[in-house]
Amino acid sequence: MKKTAITFAAALLPALAAGADIPRTWTREAVAAFEVPLAKPIYSPVHISEEAYYRIPVRSIHKTYPVYHPKHEPAGYMEWLKQQEPQPAFEPGRLKTEADWIQAGEMVFNSPVSFGPVFFGGAEVRNPAFYEETGMPVAKDGTIPFARWVIRRKGEPELGSMGCNTCHTRVMPDGTVVPGAQGNNPGDRQGAWMLRRAAKMAPAEEMLKRVRLFAKQFEVPGLGDDPNRRAQNMALDEFIAAGEAIPAGVTARSHTSMVLPPQIPDIIGVRERRFLDHTGLVRHESIGDLMRYSTLVQDLIGLARYGDSVPAEAPRAGSRYSDEQLYALASYIYSLRPPSNPNPFDAIAARGKSVFEREGCGKCHTAPLYTNNKLIPADGFEPPVAHRTRFDISSLRVGTDPRYALQTRKGTGYYKVPSLKGVWYRGPLEHHGSAATLEDWFDPRRVKDGYVPTGYAGPDGRARSVRGHEFGLKLSARDRLALLAFLRTL
Ligand code: HEC
Ligand code: HEC
Repeated sequence: MKKTAITFAAALLPALAAGADIPRTWTREAVAAFEVPLAKPIYSPVHISEEAYYRIPVRSIHKTYPVYHPKHEPAGYMEWLKQQEPQPAFEPGRLKTEADWIQAGEMVFNSPVSFGPVFFGGAEVRNPAFYEETGMPVAKDGTIPFARWVIRRKGEPELGSMGCNTCHTRVMPDGTVVPGAQGNNPGDRQGAWMLRRAAKMAPAEEMLKRVRLFAKQFEVPGLGDDPNRRAQNMALDEFIAAGEAIPAGVTARSHTSMVLPPQIPDIIGVRERRFLDHTGLVRHESIGDLMRYSTLVQDLIGLARYGDSVPAEAPRAGSRYSDEQLYALASYIYSLRPPSNPNPFDAIAARGKSVFEREGCGKCHTAPLYTNNKLIPADGFEPPVAHRTRFDISSLRVGTDPRYALQTRKGTGYYKVPSLKGVWYRGPLEHHGSAATLEDWFDPRRVKDGYVPTGYAGPDGRARSVRGHEFGLKLSARDRLALLAFLRTL
């Protein structure tokens, strides 16, 4: 209730000041209200102030160029890139219509925030073995849509990545590219590939020190038995194995966890979602909230204080998106549409629809959004009374693996009900991406001991039952087939 009033005021004031409709991203009021507290509220992140935020220099966005698989790179391409002058590519003064803003936002979406190797660098994308060994997908036109070449200084093309496109772009089996869909670049596998190489060249002790420092960012202040701390005792080989265990579509993003990595959500249709992240950490009531979310996950890594403990990793806020860039980006994300669905609503799907209704799926996955936009308490979490009036909380539970909701920096104690729109083109499913396909998600064996998940299994890839959400697990083969046919039409 209160949040609505604050957001309204926060949205109005800067609009008057700037003479435009662009919300000021990082205001004290908006930042105080935009997140759901963590399960242990005293350890909820305390963010940097409005003043400190606006002191961070704005990222300059340069014109970028496609990256090709080496087999498809036009002759002389790298030489040609070296001739190109650096060019500013984001000029808000020129943006007049909504279509202009959306187009500029597409550029922001694909603009890198890192120029050094992260999942890969310039050498890797020009090495055919890298594709074969990591399974990096290539689009029909021979490009890889997860990164771009950038000219910041003439004569020095740099491979830039870690823009939204690196994780939120999907190359479909036929090679078409779907921006915003659950990404399928195998980033953590690539990280493991690079680590394995580096380990052969640098002293092992030195490497170990570096990866342990990297892993520290996932530790959760105030958590007695923190599974993320386990990384501090891992050998280099175990780090490599933990990365290799993470399939495409799942990734150990900042503020998530290397041992409990989350599924990358499909962000097509995000406009209709009231909470962002699997745990519903960020409330989404206005475009300003999506702008705050975007700068939070890209620019403010390591800058929040959790309780009275200061995060160990080095702050990375070298630059931030401007309010205009964020507004363009969010407008673009709101404009994204799913690919056209090849699955017909035929007689089998129609039967599946009645199975869906009979099984009560719609209580949570309510049409037309196929989510009721509610938070579901994870096992082991009892919502405080005050939450009942502040957030939309379901009285039902699903009993899925509660660790991500309780033992990570995204841990609100809840999982939100995901929308089922677009399940036909995404996967792996569930908050860890434990189930590779819809068939696996509705396979009754998945809840049994000794089951080896077909999607993300765990850092050591061992057997682990994929518990909870037992809806639809007892269907006849015929009903299950029909249900899946229906789900694939959404
Ligand atoms: C390194 C990979 C990576 C990059 C880069 C990345 N994301 Fe994400 N994104 C994720 C993962 C993983 C999650 C799920 C986190 C969770 O649930 O805790 C996520 C969640 C989201 C969500 C929440 C969607 C939902 O329904 O819950 C939005 C919105 C989003 N990202 C937008 C962006 C935007 C915009 C950018 C660029 C400014 C971006 N992301 C960059 C990996 C990435
Ligand atoms: C009580 C609420 C509830 C009911 C009833 C329910 N679901 Fe879900 N569903 C959820 C939640 C919550 C998740 C996410 C769980 C997680 O990731 O831990 C989910 C996840 C899913 C997913 C995976 C989506 C993805 O993108 O990863 C599918 C598919 C799904 N449900 C289908 C169904 C079907 C079909 C039914 C009926 C047979 C059903 N659900 C009944 C709450 C519900």
